[in-house]
Amino acid sequence: MRKILVSEFLGPKRASSYNNVLVTEIKSMVHSLTLQPSNVAVNLNEVFLATVKGLVCKLAFGKNYREQPLKGPTWEVMLDETMEILNGSLGDSFPWLGRFIDRFSGWDSKLAKCFSNLDAYIETIVDEHQNNTVAKLSDDDDFVHTLVELSTIENASGYRLTKEDVKALIMNVLTGGVDTTIVTIVWAMSEITRSPRVMQKLQSEIRNCTGKIEKEDKLDTTKMTYLKMVVKETLRLHPPAPLLLPHESLSHCQIGGYDVFPRTTVLINAWAIGRDPETWGENAAEFYPERFENLEVEYGGGNCEMVPFGGGRRSCPAMNTVLTTMESTIANVLYWFDWEVPVGMKKEDLNMQEEGSLVARKKLPLYLIPKKHMCEDH
Ligand code: HEM
Repeated sequence: MRKILVSEFLGPKRASSYNNVLVTEIKSMVHSLTLQPSNVAVNLNEVFLATVKGLVCKLAFGKNYREQPLKGPTWEVMLDETMEILNGSLGDSFPWLGRFIDRFSGWDSKLAKCFSNLDAYIETIVDEHQNNTVAKLSDDDDFVHTLVELSTIENASGYRLTKEDVKALIMNVLTGGVDTTIVTIVWAMSEITRSPRVMQKLQSEIRNCTGKIEKEDKLDTTKMTYLKMVVKETLRLHPPAPLLLPHESLSHCQIGGYDVFPRTTVLINAWAIGRDPETWGENAAEFYPERFENLEVEYGGGNCEMVPFGGGRRSCPAMNTVLTTMESTIANVLYWFDWEVPVGMKKEDLNMQEEGSLVARKKLPLYLIPKKHMCEDH
């Protein structure tokens, strides 16, 4: 299943449609920001949600289901509820009592309702593709078209994808791909806004590397080294999945003198790893992208200094794709606009409280005022 996701959704086969859709979504984001009345703060959570959802939906499903709400709760509510459920129940923490706790606390019925909504949503998408009522995205098939096609043929080992397999893969994309990306871009913009020094340095790099352009575009971020450090520093301090996903140990091992027996649920505290003063020094809690200038630290690298995408065989398969999405989005919002905090607020007072569990998001939405930047200046 992982191989299918990587080769059919995240790999080079889909690179050209990914680039085309990313450019379209970014153009539409910049355009919508340009149309905002002057001096009015915009909710950047909503702006980035529209962009990321548009990108994921068009690539995966061939169209943005935003324009055509299906029955049941809104998309955002449905995904929020799913993330809450995926975080696990009280019963998961007390397995010997779990079944009773979850039944009597109402958790089981909440879970059933949530998954019935999600299942109905995904079922509609698969049915529309099976009945060929979704137009093709340019010459390429979207991901669900490809999956439906794969489910008609046996693979080399004689296995044929079932409808449940197809639905599970779509669920992975929805639950793994949308919230995490939006949350990280919002954290990045919040940290950048709080630090005028970082904002100024980053905007000069983006604008100097790009030069003067007339139209919104993906922007070539390959040479934007400071931008890459800013994204890395954001993921170090704010890994959107602070405890990764729950893992289960296969065999007995000892860690720090403690026995970990087979079938133990293991949670890895990526949040604490990224802030450990032993690794990151006294300013571990400070947003300071320059720390990566002389530091060879890779995401999930051998020494595990920071693991926002996990590590090893079950690490996030979308890492490279998602880094491009984040870099392009941030580069564009900072190329085309200067950003100010709402009237009466100081940059350093921006609220940085976290909330959530499986995904740790900024508690309050990020409101900023966009000021269109005149490109002649640079
Ligand atoms: C900023 C964005 C993202 C972050 C920080 C992130 C982080 C993670 C983490 C921490 C894991 C679990 C790794 C572990 O437990 O060892 C994971 C797994 C996964 N992610 Fe992501 N992710 C992001 C975006 C995406 C996107 C865009 C997709 C798909 C379109 C995606 C698909 C997946 C899948 C399918 C898995 C499960 C892999 C497996 O079990 O083998 N992620 N991700």
